[in-house]
Parts: sequence; C-alpha cells; structure tokens
Amino acid sequence: MTQAEATDYRHLHEQRRSEVRAALRPLVAGHERIVLEIGCGHGHFLEAYAAAHPDVFCLGIDLMSDRIRRGTRKKERSRLANLAFLHASASDLLAALPEHVKLGAIFVLFPDPWPKRRHWKNRLIQPEFLDALADHAVAGAPFHFRTDHVPYFEEARAVVAAHSKWKLAPSTAVWPFEFTTVFQARAPSYQSLIAHRIA
Ligand SMILES: C[S@@+](CC[C@H](N)C(=O)[O-])C[C@H]1O[C@@H](n2cnc3c(N)ncnc32)[C@H](O)[C@@H]1O
Repeated sequence: MTQAEATDYRHLHEQRRSEVRAALRPLVAGHERIVLEIGCGHGHFLEAYAAAHPDVFCLGIDLMSDRIRRGTRKKERSRLANLAFLHASASDLLAALPEHVKLGAIFVLFPDPWPKRRHWKNRLIQPEFLDALADHAVAGAPFHFRTDHVPYFEEARAVVAAHSKWKLAPSTAVWPFEFTTVFQARAPSYQSLIAHRIA
C-alpha cells in the first residue's frame, strides 16, 4: 500500500466511525444499559428477544446493510420501542459507543467461521475483540456465543478461557433465551458457550 492509499484508507475509516457514532447517538439516547447482538443478520433472534424483554433496550448490528434494512423493517412492523438495528462492524460500534452506555449482555450467534487457516485472522473471537467488549460491559455481563463450526467453537472457547476479563461458565449453564436464528435452522448441530465479564 502506498502512503497516499494508507492516508485514504485512514480517512475512510475515520469517516465511517464518525458516521456510526452519529447514527448510534439517537438510538441509545436515554439508555445506560443495552443488550447487543453482533452479526444479527435479519434480526430474527433479537426481535424475539426484545419482545420477550420489554424493559431491556436491544441493539443489533451487522456488516451487511441489506440485512440491517430487513431487520429495521421488522422492527417497524412489530413497533417494538426497545429494539434498533444499525449497519456497523463490531469494532466501529464498540469504538463509537458513548462512555455512559454499557453492555448488559452480548450475543454472537453463528458468526462467519472462516474455515480456511489463512482466513482465521478474520474470525471475530480474538483477544483484542474480547478486550474491547469487556471495556464496555458491566461487571457480570454475560457473553453468549453459538456456532455450528466445531473447530471455531474449540478455538473460541480457548481464547475466552485464556482471557483475563472473562470467565467461562460451566458447559451446563442454561442458555437464557431460545429462538432459532436463520443460520441455526440450517445447522445440523451446534455448540454454545457463556462467559461473564469479571468484575
Ligand atoms: C453467518 S451470519 C449469521 C447471522 C445470524 N446471527 C444467524 O444466526 O442467522 C454472520 C453475520 O455476521 C455478520 N458479521 C460478520 N462480521 C461482522 C462484524 N465484524 N461486525 C458485525 N457483523 C458482522 C455478517 O454480515 C453476517 O450477517
């Protein structure tokens, strides 16, 4: 990458972050604690979760704008006041989250598994991601992760178990809310883990 390309890239990156910050501010206004779903797809899970938890504000984010548009249409139809969707990456969202808005719970359901070794660096569950998540999570906040990809599950469990700010719950821990996601419906089997933000 040339220096000019690097400058352009940095500029675009900063611009994107400030767009996410501007779009996020009105959505979370008046909310000090939110439930965040990262990679929410069309929002099936979060819409059901928000309907079942009317006192909790739920925010779903996804990299793909068409999925967020569909989620937003669902929200408009259901008229759930405690639900919002935003087109943002996990890193942009976490960087843009106002200081006073804390994560009360986090869901990552069937994230892209990036099965090829040379793509593993793209997997969401990395120590730096867990650090950023922990910086915004309240003490004790549960992090829920579910995947149908066995090697990714094993890797994610190892990364979470080794992280100083998260404590893995026993494998018998009860999943708090069941609602089949689009990718879950296609999966022959899957595994789940829960971890809590260490105080
Ligand atoms: C395999 S789909 C699963 C969608 C949904 N959770 C489900 O279970 O049906 C993974 C989703 O995560 C989104 N995604 C991937 N990386 C992301 C990131 N860094 N930040 C936000 N969303 C991301 C993708 O765009 C995609 O919609």
